[in-house]
Amino acid sequence: MAPIVFIKDFQNHVDEEVTIQGWMFNKRGSGKIYFLEVRDGTGVAQGVVFKPAVGEDVFKKADELTMESSVKVTGKVTKHPKLENTFELQVTGIEIVQLVKENYPIAKKGHGIDFLLENRHLWLRSRKQRAIQIIRNTIINAIYEYLNTNNFIKIDSPILTPNACEGTTELFEMDYFDVGKAYLSQSGQLYLEAAIFSVGRCFDFGPVFRAEKSKTRRHLTEFWMMDAEAAFVEHEENMKIQEGLIAFVVKKVLENHLPELAILERDIEPLKKIEAPFIRKTHAEAVKELQEMGSDIKENDDLGGDDETILTKKYDKPIFVEKYPAEVKAFYMKRDPNNPKVVLCADMLAPEGYGEIIGGSQREDDYDVLLGRIQEHNLPLKAFQWYLDLRKYGSVPHSGFGIGLERLVGWICGRKHIRETIPFPRTINRIYP
Ligand code: 4AD
Ligand code: MG
Repeated sequence: MAPIVFIKDFQNHVDEEVTIQGWMFNKRGSGKIYFLEVRDGTGVAQGVVFKPAVGEDVFKKADELTMESSVKVTGKVTKHPKLENTFELQVTGIEIVQLVKENYPIAKKGHGIDFLLENRHLWLRSRKQRAIQIIRNTIINAIYEYLNTNNFIKIDSPILTPNACEGTTELFEMDYFDVGKAYLSQSGQLYLEAAIFSVGRCFDFGPVFRAEKSKTRRHLTEFWMMDAEAAFVEHEENMKIQEGLIAFVVKKVLENHLPELAILERDIEPLKKIEAPFIRKTHAEAVKELQEMGSDIKENDDLGGDDETILTKKYDKPIFVEKYPAEVKAFYMKRDPNNPKVVLCADMLAPEGYGEIIGGSQREDDYDVLLGRIQEHNLPLKAFQWYLDLRKYGSVPHSGFGIGLERLVGWICGRKHIRETIPFPRTINRIYP
């Protein structure tokens, strides 16, 4: 058998005989010639099966091959006669690994979203879904690269926790042996706050869980979050780190994935404009602007999904909305010394109507103030004693932020709903497959 190669490496094997291993994507032709489209995970190749050249046996196999059958195809790599940077395989041999005998459930077009989600295990194979996963992989790696080169150390935070990090109403709860209740983590932030006293700057990256009854295009019950945390970083610098990171990620995707973005029909012009500095507005300014645009948002309200949509459609760069009223934000956020009604936080909203992709803030670093907040929020003091301890032993100003990976991928890939951006989405009404 000829050497096995990946389709993406065809340009290095022109005029050589090679074997590819993959799945039948499509087939055209009949009579004397077949064009087989085979995908191997790295790309799609067209194999030309010409009866007089391959003989009866091989041609019969080409004839039998059905969609999604697994197959090894041998042939000579040639340059496409007309298209540049396109290669074909002049087939000499076919080995069928498994012949699919039933019709493949997902046809090329025309399925509703419920059917596709019910068949997510198969839908993942489609061109667009593959493109999203390939870009997601690059985004994950770009985040690691940026943070590692900026002195952030990866610290893995636990998923089973004795306390809430964000709202107590959105917790998945379970019995934990004789110890009491345990909760699935909503964010590793609090644990990263402990770790900065060891490594200075750190981040985690893993699944988090929200038992939120929200049924919107922006919400999943299980999603991936990257939390970052840094000692001696205050509110302003926290935002600088975030805009540097997001600009870097977008640049990496543009450098590596023009073909995938084209498959997704993503207009790349808006992505090319993503450069620091991003837009900054206080919550008060954003509310005023939204009211002028017709929103019924009140002075002390959190931004609703629709508010985020209309505000971010106005701008071609991400917007930091800073300094929210303390009452709509989490207990751990530090108050603004110039206006104690607001906290030193910022949400980053992605443009083009996408909305919040990052939530971050400077953290309260004073023991007594934090103790007061925990009591005000009726949080169980015992479960938070370790968190308070951090304010006892060498407390420092510190800040951090959390990126919702699926929201980031959704924006960059231009998907309407974030459920397409995670391999197996979990929403309030779906846990299959
Ligand atoms: O704004 P959130 O709730 O912030 C935190 O959890 C902080 N502890 C993070 C930190 O400072 N380390 O969540 C962070 C991000 C949001 O901006 C959003 O992108 C995403 O997580 N997110 C969701 N993504 C999908 N489905 C949901 N239900 C989400 N909830 C939040
Ligand atoms: Mg948030």
